[in-house]
Formats: sequence, C-alpha cells, structure tokens
Amino acid sequence: MKILSIESSCDDTAAAVVQDGRTILSNVVYSQIEEHKLYGGVVPEIASRRHTENICAVVKKALADANESYDSIDALAVTYAPGLIGALLVGVNFAKGLSFSLGKPLIPVHHLRSHIAANYLSDSDLEPPFTALVVSGGHSHIVRVKGYTDFEILGRTRDDAAGECLDKAARAMGLPYPGGVNLDKQCANGNDEAFQFPRPSVDGHPLDFSFSGIKTYVINTINSCKMKDEVVPVEDIGASFMRAVSDILCDNLMLACENFNDGKVVIAGGVSANSVLRNKIKKACSERGYKLFVPPLSLCGDNGAMVGAQGYYEYLSGNIAQPDLNAYATMSISQIIL
Ligand code: KG4
Ligand code: ZN
Repeated sequence: MKILSIESSCDDTAAAVVQDGRTILSNVVYSQIEEHKLYGGVVPEIASRRHTENICAVVKKALADANESYDSIDALAVTYAPGLIGALLVGVNFAKGLSFSLGKPLIPVHHLRSHIAANYLSDSDLEPPFTALVVSGGHSHIVRVKGYTDFEILGRTRDDAAGECLDKAARAMGLPYPGGVNLDKQCANGNDEAFQFPRPSVDGHPLDFSFSGIKTYVINTINSCKMKDEVVPVEDIGASFMRAVSDILCDNLMLACENFNDGKVVIAGGVSANSVLRNKIKKACSERGYKLFVPPLSLCGDNGAMVGAQGYYEYLSGNIAQPDLNAYATMSISQIIL
C-alpha cells in the first residue's frame, strides 16, 4: 500500500510517499528555518503562509521523486494534531481537497505517534510493545507503545518541553535559532562538569519531568556572567546543560523501562538528534541489556515519511477521516478524533 503523506505542524513543509509503513519511496522537506531565524523563533503566521505557498510544489516533488502519481497512490495521510493551528490547517485542508478529488481515503495522524513511527522506517525489526522517549520542541513524554495505535503516557513534562528549554537557553547564550541544534554543534567540546545544574524531579511522580527551573537556572548563570562583564563560557555552560537535561531524560526513561520485561527502548522527536542524549541512552541501555532503537538524524526532525509510516498502521486499525476532519493545536497521543 502506497501512502502520500503530508506534514505541516510547525515550520517544515513536508511530503513523502511510503510503502506499507516501512519503506520510504520519497521524502521531501522544505525547511523555513532561514526566515524564522531572523526572529529568533518560529513566527506562526509566517509558517502558515509559507506552507500555503509551498505545499503544492512539495507534494508534487514527493510524487515525482517516488516515480508515482496521484492515480497510483492508495491513500493520503496528514498530521492533524498537535502543533501550530494555522500551520496544521494548511496541511489538513490540502489533504482533504486531494482526498475528495481523488476519491481516496484520508488518514489523520497524531504528530507524536508519527515521530515514534520514524523508527519503523529505519528498523524493520521494530514492533510494539516497547517503551519510547518522545522529545521535541513542544513535548517530552515517556510513552508505553502497547500496539501500533495503542499508547499510554507514563511520564510527561509538567512545564516546558526539553526542546523548548534547550532552545531558550541557547538563545540566552547568543546562539542562533534553532537553538538545540546549534547548542549540540557548538558545545560538543565544552567541559560538561564545569557547571553543576540541578536535576529537578516531580514529587510523587518519578517519571514526570520539570524543566522550567533548570532553564531559569541556566539563564541566570548566563546573565550573572554578563552583569559582571565576564566572558560567558558558552561551550562549558552548553555542555553542562546538555548533560543535565540528558541525565534527567535518561534516568526517567530507564526507571520506566524497569516496569516491563521486553527490554525494547525507542527514542524519537527533534531532540533525539542530540549527540549527548543519544550517547547517554545508548550507554544506559547497553549496561542493562536493553535493545535500543534510534532514528537516523534525517528522520528525527519533522518529515513526511514518518507520517506515512504511522498512517499505514492507523489505516490498518480503521482510522479513516470523515469529510469534516479538523486540526487541533493540542491532543493527547492516546486520543483520536476522526
Ligand atoms: O520534532 P521537532 O523537529 O519539532 C517539533 O515537533 O517540535 O523538534 C524540534 C526541536 C527543537 O527544539 C530543536 O532545537 C530540537 O528539536 N533539536 C535538537 C537537536 N536537533 C533538533 N535539540 C538538541 N540537539 C539537537 N541536535
Ligand atoms: Zn515534531
């Protein structure tokens, strides 16, 4: 089954053709980073407008790269939640129009489900059940994936997402948007023990996260250097901060895994591209004998192929959109609205 999939939840306009949920036939991502960089973060209205301008060309290129046509694909899949509402609406309405005119089914896909599904594209062995850490710009979840469309949230952030926290700290250090990526690139050689940042936890909820305190702590550290006219040791602060955030994410993930005996661990989402986090989780999993699934860097960020992967399993579960499908800025990973 060939699915043409569309993703427009944030600042990437993306489309792909995926076969049977596992094989990428094409994967086209038009990044808007250069424009949003001017403002230090994503400007939602600009993102929606660029999606509107680019979506047609991106979809056409995805079909051409796959050597497919509107006639030869079997179904459409689209990200419909969660994300920037104006941005999501562009993809959803474009996909609804195509589905109606082609007479082919439309599959609504939850963004975090698709981040997890990116791993089905890189590891043909991976099948639920497993435990996943999903870390992106807007979410930090530990999820038990009981089946391809059956999810239970085990832990979540009570305030900021890990990605948001890395982005804000990077911005305070003067690094350009997207902060997390640049923090990773520029602080790889810093001394990660130079600063001892706190590792906050949530009382009575050991699998939950709280990142806003550590974010404020790092920003205060930077401001105090500036106030004293000292050079900000960006590399050391960045390295120490990435270590602290990675420690928190990894410790909670390993704690969650103790409850299950399948020993399968998955990481997903934009922040799963972080080199410190990947190395830390790799080491922790190998010490415990867990099998770790890590998406390639090209599939960590937002892309259309992951939507096609999850879309296939949503289709098999009978999750087909009604003609009045809407987009939602927030939606739990365990929820579905057709
Ligand atoms: O999944 P994603 O592309 O979009 C959302 O769904 O939010 O994640 C974007 C987030 C941003 O916060 C970005 O800074 C972060 O992922 N990110 C990274 C790295 N690459 C992307 N954070 C740390 N290290 C990276 N290498
Ligand atoms: Zn994402």
